[in-house]
Amino acid sequence: MSYNPRWNKSTLIFGGAAAWALLLVGCVMADRTVMAPPAIAGATYAGTKKCEQCHEDLTAHFDGATHSNLALKDAKAGDITCESCHGPGSLHVKAGGGKGTIVNPGKSPEACFACHLDKRGEFSLPNAHPVLSGQVTCNDCHDPHKGKVIKRTGAELETPNETCTKCHTAQKGPFLFKHQAMVEGCTICHNPHGTVNQKMLVARDANLCLRCHLQHPEAVVVSGVPGTIGDGKIVAGNEDHRTRLQNGTCWVAGCHEDVHGSNASKAMRY
Ligand code: HEC
Ligand code: HEC
Ligand code: HEC
Ligand code: HEC
Ligand code: HEC
Ligand code: HEC
Ligand code: HEC
Repeated sequence: MSYNPRWNKSTLIFGGAAAWALLLVGCVMADRTVMAPPAIAGATYAGTKKCEQCHEDLTAHFDGATHSNLALKDAKAGDITCESCHGPGSLHVKAGGGKGTIVNPGKSPEACFACHLDKRGEFSLPNAHPVLSGQVTCNDCHDPHKGKVIKRTGAELETPNETCTKCHTAQKGPFLFKHQAMVEGCTICHNPHGTVNQKMLVARDANLCLRCHLQHPEAVVVSGVPGTIGDGKIVAGNEDHRTRLQNGTCWVAGCHEDVHGSNASKAMRY
């Protein structure tokens, strides 16, 4: 992964990851122009302490949030991590809150692109979630205020798929015949940011499935004849699939079209 925040010259020479490491330890911004947070005309940084006064429900859980590691500092306002996504908040605070005085990145991904520049490219690929059009937002899948920004680890083992199935109910199951690949999460086969392949698949053909299902020719018996390495056989499920694959890829009609799980057949068919 790569971040492209627009830091000042001295941090830039360290390059991506190193620059971040430095900042996470050092964390003193030389001035306000080193980053490109959303701009708000006439506003200056107010500091996270100010936000706390009215948004305690959000600041209370922020310590454990991935982005709290940023711990960005401003010489005058102190910690300004909230404002790295929301833009400088002085006018908002002065107005006693209210809309139109602060950026809400829930409505546009621009605030996220300020640091995650590469993501704009991913969402511009031919098959991507409609984030650039605003139909789906980054926070539909990422929680910016609480816990790990990617919901997928430890005690949250079940949640990565739920992130997806709250919208894609058809893939939720339960299925009579589960496809064990689903245990690995939807992202083992789809890149939700976007890919060049149809349906945001990470590979466009049988290679997607053969990543897990390709059996070594020597390891199995095909039609009673042990295969040998280099014989060109494509063995999956103890069967040479070469002829079948001439008819299309693994999930074409008549084969394993129900890739997410099936209620009809163990072989993932309708
Ligand atoms: C990584 C970027 C990011 C950081 C850092 C961040 N926010 Fe947010 N914030 C968002 C996004 C995205 C939304 C939109 C959430 C939504 O619509 O579900 C949002 C929404 C909000 C809202 C609107 C109310 C709501 O929940 O819909 C408030 C208030 C808010 N943030 C306050 C804060 C405060 C206070 C902090 C610091 C403790 C903070 N934010 C840090 C990205 C961020
Ligand atoms: C004096 C109280 C107060 C302070 C201080 C304050 N806010 Fe707010 N904020 C509000 C109120 C009130 C709203 C409107 C809530 C609503 O209408 O739902 C709001 C709304 C927001 C929203 C949502 C705006 C939208 O268009 O949806 C964001 C984001 C936000 N605040 C972030 C911040 C950040 C970041 C800070 C710290 C720099 C901060 N606020 C400080 C009172 C405050
Ligand atoms: C000020 C720069 C900045 C902004 C703005 C920002 N991020 Fe980040 N983001 C980072 C950094 C730095 C990390 C790495 C933090 C770490 O690993 O401790 C990160 C981490 C992440 C990760 C997790 C990466 C991982 O591998 O765990 C996600 C997801 C993410 N950001 C999404 C967002 C979203 C969504 C927004 C907009 C709401 C956003 N970011 C806004 C700087 C930013
Ligand atoms: C449809 C759901 C979805 C949307 C929308 C989405 N993401 Fe993600 N994102 C994910 C998932 C799932 C992962 C974890 C992928 C993995 O680890 O295999 C991820 C990973 C990331 C990462 C860390 C790994 C990487 O690719 O660099 C960053 C940073 C990130 N997202 C930023 C964003 C930003 C910024 C936006 C909005 C512009 C966004 N995401 C919108 C689902 C989404
Ligand atoms: C907020 C709702 C929402 C969430 C959450 C979401 N998606 Fe989507 N997804 C959509 C929308 C909207 C489309 C576009 C549908 C269209 O263009 O017809 C889409 C399209 C897709 C497609 C392509 C469908 C097609 O027929 O071309 C795939 C695959 C997909 N999403 C997978 C995922 C995965 C994997 C996740 C979790 C990481 C996820 N989605 C999370 C709303 C969501
Ligand atoms: C084993 C790989 C694999 C996994 C895991 C997987 N998918 Fe898919 N998904 C596919 C393939 C292959 C297609 C294309 C099917 C087609 O075109 O007929 C697809 C298509 C889709 C579509 C488009 C609608 C359709 O059925 O054609 C959506 C939406 C989708 N997947 C969502 C998800 C979600 C949500 C998850 C996780 C709960 C998930 N997928 C897990 C392989 C996978
Ligand atoms: C992440 C690894 C992984 C990927 C990718 C994957 N599978 Fe699977 N699949 C499994 C596992 C594990 C099983 C259960 C053990 C077994 O039968 O091999 C399974 C079982 C199956 C079965 C049932 C076999 C039986 O007789 O019970 C079929 C059919 C199948 N997968 C088809 C596919 C297709 C088609 C694709 C590509 C769209 C695919 N798989 C991608 C891991 C994967």
